[in-house]
Amino acid sequence: MNAEDDLRAGLGRLLDGAGARRTAAAVERLVAGYRGGGPAPALRDRDDVAAYAAYRMPATFQAVRAALRALAGAAPGWEPDSHLDVGGGTGAAVWAAAAVWPDGSRPTVVLDQAEPALAVGRELAAGAAAPAVRAAGWRRHPLGTAGSAWAPAGLVTVSYVLGELSEDVRRDVVADAARSARGGVVVVEPGTPEGYRRVLDARRQLVAAGFEVLAPCPHSAACPMAGTADWCHFAARVQRSALHRRIKGGELGHEDEKFAYVAAARPDRVGGAPAAGRVVRHPQLRKGQVLLRLCMAGEGLAGTTVSKRQGPRYRAARDVRWGDAWPPPEGDGHGLP
Ligand SMILES: C[S@@+](CC[C@H](N)C(=O)[O-])C[C@H]1O[C@@H](n2cnc3c(N)ncnc32)[C@H](O)[C@@H]1O
Repeated sequence: MNAEDDLRAGLGRLLDGAGARRTAAAVERLVAGYRGGGPAPALRDRDDVAAYAAYRMPATFQAVRAALRALAGAAPGWEPDSHLDVGGGTGAAVWAAAAVWPDGSRPTVVLDQAEPALAVGRELAAGAAAPAVRAAGWRRHPLGTAGSAWAPAGLVTVSYVLGELSEDVRRDVVADAARSARGGVVVVEPGTPEGYRRVLDARRQLVAAGFEVLAPCPHSAACPMAGTADWCHFAARVQRSALHRRIKGGELGHEDEKFAYVAAARPDRVGGAPAAGRVVRHPQLRKGQVLLRLCMAGEGLAGTTVSKRQGPRYRAARDVRWGDAWPPPEGDGHGLP
């Protein structure tokens, strides 16, 4: 079973055990907490964590998977030999890594301050098919602890965490991630202007520490969206299970999780290269034409129209999606040189 289906099945079992009514009440508290605009609601007990897992984990899993896929696409010869997930909660990033690199049995550690989140993460992981998920270690660790030295890891992920930290702790966490990462660092945040700004700060810090940005940007230079009214973000489709629909009270079979991210790597350890460009908006389909909004190496933000006369390039443009590399990599079936 792939990691996505496996996680869905595990969440189903977890929520059956937790009781749908109690979970729904806890989701309401959680949603009110997130909407309140104050500090993020703490995951205090098993009900809170079951609610987080039902309400948010499928979406954070998809966002992190998309970011890790983009990293894997830019560095196809590399695979992390170990993984540290910082502020990992119930372990969405660990499952996402298993979806992108399913064969590895890499040592994996999740750090979080919330013991109830770690306990549920551990319980979910115990039923996983992927060896890296099953064998993961779950450690209580409050971020911002002076002198904390994390063990080195091939990949360090920091997903949906920076927004819960003060600016000083945020800076320290990114510095610690850079120090600890032997290969790559992936930071994921909500796809809001604030989430993008936090990603941008992390990106600057990682570049200053000698990392190369491999995705989504086609370069490691200044972001052309910085200082404009626009913000770089993407969307990942999340299929809702029946339980997810009931808890979220929606009719739609899916939702789109908006996220911002940066995947950066040590060039001497990871190799690879960023794509020449990235599609930064939903492509617009017109009769015989596709309009693409791109971020391109060298040119920055650019609009381009691909017309039917361009043959394989047009067919590629019709299939490309917001967030994909452009032009598509060679050998993807579009016959592009
Ligand atoms: C929104 S959740 C994200 C969890 C997971 N990374 C994901 O993508 O689903 C934020 C997590 O950060 C943890 N966290 C927040 N502040 C922290 C701190 N100061 N030290 C350690 N963990 C912290 C929370 O306990 C929670 O599990």
